[in-house]
Amino acid sequence: MNSNNPLIGRDIVSISDLTKEEIRAVLDQALRFEQQLKDAHAIPLLNGRILATVFYEPSTRTRLSFESAMHRLGGSVISVAEARTSSSAAKGESIYDSGKMLESYADVIVQRHPAVGSARALADAASVPVINAGDGTGEHPTQALLDLYTIEREKGTLDKLTVAMMGDLKHGRTVHSLAKALAHWKTKLILCAPRALAMPSDLIAELRHQGLIVIETENMGAALAQADVVYVTRIQQERFETVEEYMRYKGIYVITEQALRAAKPGIVIMHPLPRVDEISTDVDGLPNAAYFRQARYGVFVRMALLAMVLGAV
Ligand code: NCD
Repeated sequence: MNSNNPLIGRDIVSISDLTKEEIRAVLDQALRFEQQLKDAHAIPLLNGRILATVFYEPSTRTRLSFESAMHRLGGSVISVAEARTSSSAAKGESIYDSGKMLESYADVIVQRHPAVGSARALADAASVPVINAGDGTGEHPTQALLDLYTIEREKGTLDKLTVAMMGDLKHGRTVHSLAKALAHWKTKLILCAPRALAMPSDLIAELRHQGLIVIETENMGAALAQADVVYVTRIQQERFETVEEYMRYKGIYVITEQALRAAKPGIVIMHPLPRVDEISTDVDGLPNAAYFRQARYGVFVRMALLAMVLGAV
């Protein structure tokens, strides 16, 4: 047990809940776990502890990487994969009641839910740490942490970078959390989106207030030409009222090998996944394509979070 662990017993609801030093502590712990797992399959720090994963929206990476992280730490997992239909929420149970119940079944809860603010509601109800795995179009703080980890692993630093975010910046919760996190490093941020899918203006104002240089463009080539990192997101189909509206924007930006000729040679290409058509598969073989490594890094970062909130490091 390390008294330098600032996250014992804490909820992780918004990336804004963490200071720069606390984020640094998570990234450093994740790197230690990554190194230790070169020689071991498991690091049994959480024997006997139980993680509950409760997902009211689809997920592959977030749920499985949290579950993998818990197993690598020697803990156990109980799970409701399709909570919207298969949990008592389908019978009308409130988030509050679900929190009061889950706290007696698990030592830590990871929730994904379609409503903004749902993670805070669960954290207020449950006495055990709650980790937000996505609350609608709100936030996805653990994705932001693994995105920072990826940028640092790929570029060697988080300082003095130009990061372009591209795609559905209105509905994409990963970019909301990542932009807030990057404010600690005074990154230059290029936001590339069609006007109707721009990042919310109150968030942009907040980022500028924190010292980030924010440039908005609709032009993919202009964004690629300046970026050290391009963070591509899918158009978030499930957030549109109609299919027609979604189809208006689907395929609006597609990163191809050809498009990357306009980019800096060392550009790092990231994507929280799942990918639909935003990155052509001809890019996958390039050394710049970091998105599958990014998904792998998620396990180390989520191990760090679980071990820290449960006070095991
Ligand atoms: C993201 C999400 O759920 O917000 N996926 C993920 O967690 N890796 C991105 C997305 O769904 O587009």
